[in-house]
Amino acid sequence: MGSLGRKAEKQNAERMSDISFKMMTFLFRVIDFIYPHIKKRVKGFGVQEGMTVVDYGCGPGRYATVFADFVGEEGKVYAIDIHELAIEAVKKRIEKHNLRNIEPVLAEGYNSGLPDNIADMVCAIDMFFGIRNPTEFLKELKRITKSGGVLVIDQGHQPRSVAKEKIVGSGCWDIFEESKDHMKCRPR
Ligand SMILES: C[S@@+](CC[C@H](N)C(=O)[O-])C[C@H]1O[C@@H](n2cnc3c(N)ncnc32)[C@H](O)[C@@H]1O
Repeated sequence: MGSLGRKAEKQNAERMSDISFKMMTFLFRVIDFIYPHIKKRVKGFGVQEGMTVVDYGCGPGRYATVFADFVGEEGKVYAIDIHELAIEAVKKRIEKHNLRNIEPVLAEGYNSGLPDNIADMVCAIDMFFGIRNPTEFLKELKRITKSGGVLVIDQGHQPRSVAKEKIVGSGCWDIFEESKDHMKCRPR
C-alpha cells in the first residue's frame, strides 16, 4: 500500500461500517421512542439563542435538530461526522423539518474543515470513547472553539476517570464543571 492509501486508511480508522451505522441509527430510534431524553439533556448543556454550536460526531442528527431549535434563526449548528451516512441522515432531517440553521459537514480524520474560533459551544456526545488519538482530536476541537467558548463532552463507554485523564492530558482544555451527565471544559 502506498503512503496515500495508508493515510486514507488511518483517516478512516474510526469510521464504522455502513451496516453498523444503520444498526446504531435503528437502536437510537427505539431508545428515543421509549425514553425521550434529548431535550432535557440539551437544556443542561446551556445552549442559548444565537449561539454557534458544533455537534461533533453528530451521527443521525438527533442532537443537532434540538440544538437548531434552541439556537433559533440567529444561531447556527454545524453537524460534523466522519461517516457519509450521518451527513445524509442530517440532510434528510433538514429537508423534513425545513431547518435553515444546520449545516452538515463531513470530517476527514481529525479535520472538521471548519474555520478557527467559530464555535460558542462544541458538543461531543457519546463519541469520545471511540477516539484513538484524543490529544489530536481535542486540539481540533480547541481550534474551532472561541476563546470564551465551551466544550460539552461525555465519557460514553469508558470510565469518567479515563475520559478526564485524556482531557487534562491533552493540555488543551480545563474541566470547569461536572455533572453525572457530562463535563464542561474551557480552552486552556
Ligand atoms: C455513537 S455515535 C453518537 C452520535 C450522536 N452524537 C448521538 O449521540 O446521537 C458516534 C458518532 O461519532 C462519529 N465519529 C467517530 N469518530 C469521529 C471523528 N473522528 N470525527 C467525527 N465524527 C466521528 C461516528 O461516525 C458516529 O456517527
